[in-house]
Amino acid sequence: MLVLGIETSCDETAAAVVKDGRELLSNIIASQVDIHSLYGGVVPEIASRAHTEAIYGVVEKALDKASVTLSDIGAIAVTYSPGLIGALLTGLSFAKGLSFASGIPLVPVHHIRGHVAANFLAFKELEPPFIALVVSGGHTSLLKVLTYTDYESIGHTRDDAAGEAFDKAARVLGLPYPGGVSMDRMASKGDKTAVKFTVSSVDNAEYDFSFSGLKTAVINLVHNHTEKNKGVEPDEAFKADIAASYTDALVRTITSRLRILLERDSTLPIVMAGGVAANTHLRRAVGELADSFGVGLFMPPLSLCGDNAAMIASQGFFELISGVTAPLSQNAFATKSV
Ligand code: KG4
Ligand code: ZN
Repeated sequence: MLVLGIETSCDETAAAVVKDGRELLSNIIASQVDIHSLYGGVVPEIASRAHTEAIYGVVEKALDKASVTLSDIGAIAVTYSPGLIGALLTGLSFAKGLSFASGIPLVPVHHIRGHVAANFLAFKELEPPFIALVVSGGHTSLLKVLTYTDYESIGHTRDDAAGEAFDKAARVLGLPYPGGVSMDRMASKGDKTAVKFTVSSVDNAEYDFSFSGLKTAVINLVHNHTEKNKGVEPDEAFKADIAASYTDALVRTITSRLRILLERDSTLPIVMAGGVAANTHLRRAVGELADSFGVGLFMPPLSLCGDNAAMIASQGFFELISGVTAPLSQNAFATKSV
C-alpha cells in the first residue's frame, strides 16, 4: 500500500510517498530555515504562513517524484501532535481536505513515533520491541517500543530538550543558525576538557533528563568572559573549546541514562531518532556504549534524522494496519504523550 505523508509541525513543509511502511518513493522537504534565520529561531506565525504557501506544491511534487497520482494512494498520514499549533493545523487541514475530496482514509501520526519510524525506512529488518532514544528540538525521551503502535515511557526531559540546549548555546556563542549543526562542527575543533560543565541528575528519577542547568552555565560563562574582556567576545579557539566541553556534558547526560538502562537489561536493541540523532559526537558515544554492552544499534541516516514526511508516512502505514484512522473532526494538539 502507498501512503502519502504530510508533516508541518515546525519549520519544514514536507510530503512523501512510502510503500508498505518501508520503501521510500519520494521525500520532499521545503525548509524555512532562510526565513527564520533572520530572527535566530522559529517564529510560529511566520511558519504557519509559509506552510500554507508551500503545502500544495510540496504534496504535488511528492506524488510526481514517486510517479503516482492521488488515486494510487491508500492512506493520507499527517502529523497531528506535538508541535506548533498553527503549523500543525496547516498540514492537518490540508490532509483533511484531501481526504474528504478523495475518500482516502486519514491517519493521524504522532510526530515522535514518526521520528522513530524513520528507522523502519532505513533498516528493513528492524522490528519492535526495542529501546528508542528520541533526541530532537522539542523532545528528549527514552522509550520502550513494544509494538509499532504501543509505546512505554522510561524517561523524559524535565525542562529543555537536547536540541533546544544546543540551539541556545549556539546562539550565545554567536554561531550561525540553525544552531545544532554549527555546534556539532565547532565542537569537533575544540578541547572537550577545557571547561568543566556538570552532568545533571534528577532526584528520584534516574532515567529523566535536565538540560536547563547546562544551558544557564554556558550563558553565564560567555557573559562573564565577555564582561571580563571589556565587551570582547570569546575568540574562535575558546568558542570551540566551549562547544566541545558543552557537547561532551550534554552527550554524557544522555549516555549516563542509557548506561543505567543497559546495566539492568541489555536484551533489546537501541534505536536513535530525532534531529539531534544527527550529532556526530552523540552518535559516536552511543555507538561505543552499545558496543561495550554488545547490543544492536540503529541510527537513521542524516537525511532522515530531521523533520520529514517519509517518517510520517511510514508510521502512518503501521497505525493504519493496527486499525487507526481519523474522523474529519480530528484536531491538532501542541502537546500529547507518545
Ligand atoms: O527532530 P527535529 O528536526 O525537530 C523537532 O522535532 O524538534 O530536531 C531539530 C533539532 C534542532 O534543535 C537542531 O538544532 C538539532 O535538532 N540538530 C542538531 C544537529 N542537527 C540538528 N543538534 C546537534 N547536532 C546536530 N548535528
Ligand atoms: Zn521533529
